[in-house]
Amino acid sequence: MDLQIVLELILFILPAYVANAMPVILGGGPKLDSGKSLGDGRRILGDGKTLYGLIGGLMCGILTAAALAATIPDLFATTAAGFGTKLLTGGLLAAGALCGDLAGSFFKRRTGMERGQPSLLLDQLTFLFFALAFAAPYFPTQAGIPGLVFLAVLTFVLHILFNVIAHRLKLKSVPW
Ligand code: CTP
Ligand code: MG
Repeated sequence: MDLQIVLELILFILPAYVANAMPVILGGGPKLDSGKSLGDGRRILGDGKTLYGLIGGLMCGILTAAALAATIPDLFATTAAGFGTKLLTGGLLAAGALCGDLAGSFFKRRTGMERGQPSLLLDQLTFLFFALAFAAPYFPTQAGIPGLVFLAVLTFVLHILFNVIAHRLKLKSVPW
């Protein structure tokens, strides 16, 4: 993969990263599952999934796409022409990231894991795969399978790194 494609991929995925990270800071307000449990006696999503986290993540993801689109004319050059399409791409990435995060928590609760308990791969990658699926029509196709593998590895490493930093900054009680 040449550097051009690597850069394009990093810019492409940025709205998803922002959407996934911001709830740690902005989270709060009503619990998305209203504190309810399913028949298995476990919470639907758990206390870690809040309304402000969801809305804040979505807004910040879209704002990131808007800022990128306004400052980097070549952003998503191969996939999205107009500003509106770029915004839509960012919105899809952000929405996908947040849905993936909720899906990950739902799955963790169903398998008996408490809120905040670490689940390797699920914690780091569900949000990425959902984001990529939501924004699939706008994925820089020339990046291909190697591009997907690159994003998976990059996301895995960065997710762990940023969670350790968030823990050190006392934004999170656990370093994952
Ligand atoms: N958060 C939030 N709303 C969301 C997602 C995250 O408020 N929709 C906040 C919560 O404070 C959460 C923190 O961001 O604790 C970290 O998110 P995450 O690691 O996804 O949640 P966990 O607390 O680890 O819970 P889970 O086991 O369900 O992943
Ligand atoms: Mg977690």
